[in-house]
This record gives sequence, structure tokens and C-alpha cells, in this order.
Amino acid sequence: SKKKISIAIDGPAAAGKSTVAKLTAEKLSYVYVDTGAMYRALTYKAITEQVDIHNEEQLKKLLPETKIELKPSENGQLVILDGNDVTAAIREAVVTNKVSIVAASRAVREEMVSRQQQLGQNGGVVMDGRDIGTSVLPKAELKIFMLASVEIRAQRRHQENISRGFSSDMSQLMKEIELRDKSDMEREVSPLVKAADAIEIDTSNLSIDEVAHEIMKLAQERIEAQ
Ligand code: CDP
Ligand code: CDP
Repeated sequence: SKKKISIAIDGPAAAGKSTVAKLTAEKLSYVYVDTGAMYRALTYKAITEQVDIHNEEQLKKLLPETKIELKPSENGQLVILDGNDVTAAIREAVVTNKVSIVAASRAVREEMVSRQQQLGQNGGVVMDGRDIGTSVLPKAELKIFMLASVEIRAQRRHQENISRGFSSDMSQLMKEIELRDKSDMEREVSPLVKAADAIEIDTSNLSIDEVAHEIMKLAQERIEAQ
């Protein structure tokens, strides 16, 4: 059988990374790794344990005692934190609006990157995040940098909220997304940046299927070349 490649998908919030990464992993029978969920789970734990998220030492102490599992299930990937299902809880606004602070910590990034590299060590993985192509899987055979205008990205999250029966404020969402992008791009350790060898896809005017199709085409080319 053909060698399994690694696929890195990076980009700003709500560009469509996880939706398309999941689809691509399914089509190729690869493992999907949502690295954002790992930072979210740790942030959730820090909040519930009342850790000062600006305190590097306190964050560092939390790491060895924190177990994060990504488990495939019929209803999508489950996020299990220290044995508890936190799949829904980590998507709440309290977590979303603090995760970039936790993710800027050097100790946190070192630990998470090392865990993610272990998950990807045998290839056959589609991983999405902010620093996958630059730090986690610098040798990935296929690197995608996915983006879309901030208006479109806020609109997508807005739509998601509404369809889940939550209230949602477009201008508030836009502000939150811009703020998170800014801290992700400006942090010192592995900031959000396009890898030199990444292929850029602007999804502003593309459907999920169109993006998935484009990525599958690029993946097949790399697999054939093995
Ligand atoms: O899905 P969404 O775009 O809202 O974000 P996510 O992928 O769940 O990631 C949440 C946050 O985790 C990001 O805003 C980053 O601060 C952080 N993150 C990171 O620093 N590095 C990664 N590889 C993935 C996420
Ligand atoms: O993972 P990331 O934060 O980059 O984005 P996502 O959670 O995959 O996508 C955000 C929302 O945009 C989801 O509701 C997708 O269904 C939607 N989407 C879209 O409408 N068109 C695309 N080309 C990609 C995603």
C-alpha cells in the first residue's frame, strides 16, 4: 500500500480548517487531530481550577497532571479531559475568549507541540491549528494555509450559533475573532504565520465541498509521488 503522508492545515479562526480537515481525514482514512481543542481543554481546566492564566509558573504546574484525549465517535471527535467529556464545554465563549492567552505561554506550547508530534509520528494524519506547518509538522508533505475575510468568518460563526439555538451578535463576533487573530499572530512563541512552503486557499467564496475537493487533489498528488 501507499505511504501515508501528513497534512498540516493552518489559518485564522473560522476559516474552515476543522470542517475540511475532518472531511479530508475521513476520505483518506487518516487520523484527524484538532490541536485547537487541546489548547481549549487546557484553558477550560485552568479556568475551573482558578489558575491565573497570566502566570507562567502556575500554567506550567498544571501540565503534567492534565490528560487530554481526542476520541473519534459516531457524533464526531470527543474531547476527554482527565476522563471527563468536555467536547461542548470547551466551545463556550468563556473558553474561546481566554484560549489565546493560555496558548501564548512558552511552557504550554512546548508541551502541546510535543504531544501533537507524538500523535503525528507515523504519518497518516490531518492536523489543524495555527503552527502545524511551521512547528509541529515542519516536514508535512502537504501544508495548507486557509483564510477568509473577517466578515465571512464572523458570518459563519454567527450562522453556527443560530443553528444551535444560541443568540449571536455579528459585530461582537467580528471583534472577538479579530482580537484572537491578533494575539495568535503577535505572540512570541510559534505565532500564526504561513509556512514558506504552504499553499494558500482563500475560502471566502468557496463551499466546504470545493475546499475539500481542492485539498484532496493536492493530497493525492503527494501520495502518488511517494
Ligand atoms: O476553531 P477556532 O478557529 O475557533 O479555534 P481553534 O482552532 O479551536 O483554536 C483555539 C485557539 O487555540 C486559537 O485561537 C489559538 O490561540 C490556539 N491554538 C494555537 O495557539 N495553536 C494551535 N496549533 C491551535 C490552536
Ligand atoms: O476550524 P476553523 O475555526 O477554521 O473553522 P470551522 O469550524 O471548520 O468552520 C467555521 C464554519 O464555517 C463552520 O460552520 C463551517 O460549516 C463553515 N464553512 C463554510 O461555510 N464554508 C467553508 N468553505 C468552510 C467552512
